[in-house]
Order: sequence, then C-alpha cells, then structure tokens
Amino acid sequence: MKNILVIGSINVDYVIHTERLPKLGETLTGSDFAMNFGGKGANQAMALAKTGCNVKMLGAVGKDLSGELAINNLKSFGIDTTDVITVDAPTGAAVITVCGGDNHIILDIGANAYVTPDAIAEREALFDWADYVVMQYEIPMESVLFAARMTKKHGKKVVLNPAPVKEADPELFRFVDMIIPNEFEAQLITGISPNDEATTKQAIRALQALGCETVIITLGKRGCAYTEGDSIGTAGIYPVKVVDTTAAGDSFIGGLCKSLCEGKSMSDAVAYASAVSSITVSRPGAGISIPTADEVEDFLKKI
Ligand code: RIB
Repeated sequence: MKNILVIGSINVDYVIHTERLPKLGETLTGSDFAMNFGGKGANQAMALAKTGCNVKMLGAVGKDLSGELAINNLKSFGIDTTDVITVDAPTGAAVITVCGGDNHIILDIGANAYVTPDAIAEREALFDWADYVVMQYEIPMESVLFAARMTKKHGKKVVLNPAPVKEADPELFRFVDMIIPNEFEAQLITGISPNDEATTKQAIRALQALGCETVIITLGKRGCAYTEGDSIGTAGIYPVKVVDTTAAGDSFIGGLCKSLCEGKSMSDAVAYASAVSSITVSRPGAGISIPTADEVEDFLKKI
C-alpha cells in the first residue's frame, strides 16, 4: 500500500436539515441538528484511511475542544496526526444547511489559515515518506502552490481537488498529476461549462492544456468523465437514495486514490470511487458517512 500525505483542512461541521432555504431576515425551523467532523482535507484523509491506505495529515486546529476532538477522530481511523499543529485560532467551522439532500456551506477556515508555507517547509521529510500528496483549497493558496512545488522536488505525485474553487496561480496546474474538480469548479477554472459530452471533453482538454496530466470531472447525478491515457471515458453513478451530498466529492477522491494506489486501471478506480461516494451520499454527515473498505465491498456485491 502506498503512503498518502493529505495537506488540508480540518473542520467541525454544524449541520441542520431544512425543507427549504430561509429568505434574508427569516428564521426557519429545521431538524436533525448534528455536529460532525469535516473539512475537505480531513474528509479525504478519512476516506483514504477507512478504505485502507496509510495516511498522514498535515493540518492545523485550534487550542479548543473542537480541535482536540477532531484530532482524536482522525487518530481513531489510524491517521497519523503528528503533523497536525495546534494554533491560537478557532478550529475551522462549517455551517451547513442540508435541503432536499443538497447542501449549502458557509466556512470560517480559522486555524486552517496556519497551514502556511513555513509550516510545510518545516516538515519537508513528509514529502520523502509520501507517494501521493493530496490537497484542496481550504488552506492558504500560497501553501497549496508551495506544497505542490515541494512534492515535485521530491519526485512525488500531486493530487488536487480545487475546492472550494478560487483563483489559482497558473503555475500550480503545471505541478498537478491528477486534478479532480466538480463541474462547477471545472467551469470556473476553464471557462467551459461541462454540460454535455462535447463540452466535458473540451473542459478536460483545457485542464490538461493548463498542465494537469490526468483529469477527472465529477458531474453529480451524471457520474464523471475521466482521462485514461489519451482517451476520455465516462462512468455513471449507483442508484441510491440521496440523503446528504456533503463529502460526496471528498469520498470519491479517497476511493479513487486508494484504488489507483493498488494499481487498478482508471476505469476500475472510478467505479470504486463512485461506490464510495454513493454510499456516502446515502447517509447523513461528512466524515461519519464515508464507508469502510468492507462496506464498499458489500455494496458492490449487492448492486
Ligand atoms: O466537502 C465537504 C466539507 O466542506 C465539509 O465537511 C465542510 O467542512 C466543508 O469544508
């Protein structure tokens, strides 16, 4: 099994389910409030660990109860948290409204802002250990660029989930071995909305022209489109009742990397990742909803 370093966010999610979204100034009664462990980085680390990978996390939490609980949660899945730093800022917090299965998220990155280039440079040895470095955009953008550059310096692979999408230094994409945006993120990066076969291909080729070697665009209910060598393939989703789409993308990325690390082909890896993501969206919450390798195996046997 390969070694995976996740450099990214650790949040606590405060979730309420509603029938509809409130108007400005309106108070709505919701239900099923939950505090969950989340953060795109932590979710991806959990997905990787739960499906059986060796995972180290480089991140930051506050000196508060949320931070302590979040670290313990990561440890409970066997994730090495030696390089999760504790800083004088609140642990990242996401306020999530789940409405009709879909979600709206407001994020205060808090302590995640302390995952700085200096903090990464001090931990350069991690890049010797790692085979893959997995990142998202919930830490400072200069840190993502710095870590991507360092990953390549050490001859390792960069996996980038450009979420939540924001403007990036174009140099970043030249270091990316595998990029996994959703359709919205792909559109904002390339200016091409992947809403049919032709535009999806165009968006994929545009991401490759920026420098990303392998591209997988997740397309929600339409599944995903991916590159395999020179060709472009597509895959559908599994039929499940969607309860909460939080961490759909994070769990997909975990499942994908796990499979690729095992030497699977891209089409097999995408099928596995779709199963991981389908199970995740059929249950409420972020990290807590992500299945283990055994659960994925059972799901695939029954489908
Ligand atoms: O991708 C889902 C995650 O986005 C949530 O867990 C929340 O913390 C936000 O970062």
